Amino acid sequence: MDFEVRKLEGKIGAEIIGLDLDGELDASTIKSLNDVWLEFAILLFRGIGTSNERHLRLSSCFGELEVHPIESLRMKGFPEIIYLAQKKGDRDQMTFYFDGDPIVGRIPFHTDMIYTPTPNRGSLLRMVEKPTVGGETAWIDTAAAYDALDDEVKTRIANLEARYLFVTNLEEMRFGKEGKIELGNYGSVEYPVFPDVAQPLVWTHPESGRKSLCLSTVQLIDMVGMPREEGDPILASLVEHTLSGRFTYQHDWEVGDMMLWDNWRTMHTARGTPPGYDRVVHRTTMKGAHQTGRLL
Ligand SMILES: [Fe+2]
Repeated sequence: MDFEVRKLEGKIGAEIIGLDLDGELDASTIKSLNDVWLEFAILLFRGIGTSNERHLRLSSCFGELEVHPIESLRMKGFPEIIYLAQKKGDRDQMTFYFDGDPIVGRIPFHTDMIYTPTPNRGSLLRMVEKPTVGGETAWIDTAAAYDALDDEVKTRIANLEARYLFVTNLEEMRFGKEGKIELGNYGSVEYPVFPDVAQPLVWTHPESGRKSLCLSTVQLIDMVGMPREEGDPILASLVEHTLSGRFTYQHDWEVGDMMLWDNWRTMHTARGTPPGYDRVVHRTTMKGAHQTGRLL
């Protein structure tokens, strides 16, 4: 292999060391990278994301890239790159109070596009402008969380589904709030309407066959076909288990770091920053043709 693999702290995810992104990557290196991605789900490439070209070169090793449906998010000249920025002085940012403190850009644990039947395959995020305070991102390996469940719980949840909705106002979250959330400024972005979606609580990865817990907390509403007084305690207990910290890796970014995640086996959270800090990240998205859920 043309690179080394080192487990990240907490044994969740791995760092890829010594990968040369200056030339074309050959087929055997690309195959090895995909094998490691499948094994660890979360990969760190430290410091080598120094240009859009390098970002795209690495992204394209992991599948066909998706162009974001919202045109304003696309970077000029690089339609496969999403530009995500928070800038000090921007009064239009969505802001929430978390336990009384105003935070910009925080998104609690979620799986991307969970509110559709076909969530995307994964993403590669690159730190372009690092804030001097905060701005970390954390991931949970939801296969590790599933593996750690008692056999009795695994049997009980094997065929259950949960209902998901597209949620932007975090006050409406029902699970996994990790504190008190109050709306500060909602911002002015208008979002499309998405119908309710049912997702199995247990996903089987189409490539590895590994099982994982699907619990995207931002959009998790309730259990399908079960009264809330019965379903809520099950969901709350699974969320508490998954968010316990035992299956989490949190990354304190440096400029040029890139993190790759398998969206079919992880949740992630943006921790955000206090108001008044600049943060810019670029993201690419790998398409996913695998259907996990169904429209309700
Ligand atoms: Fe996300």
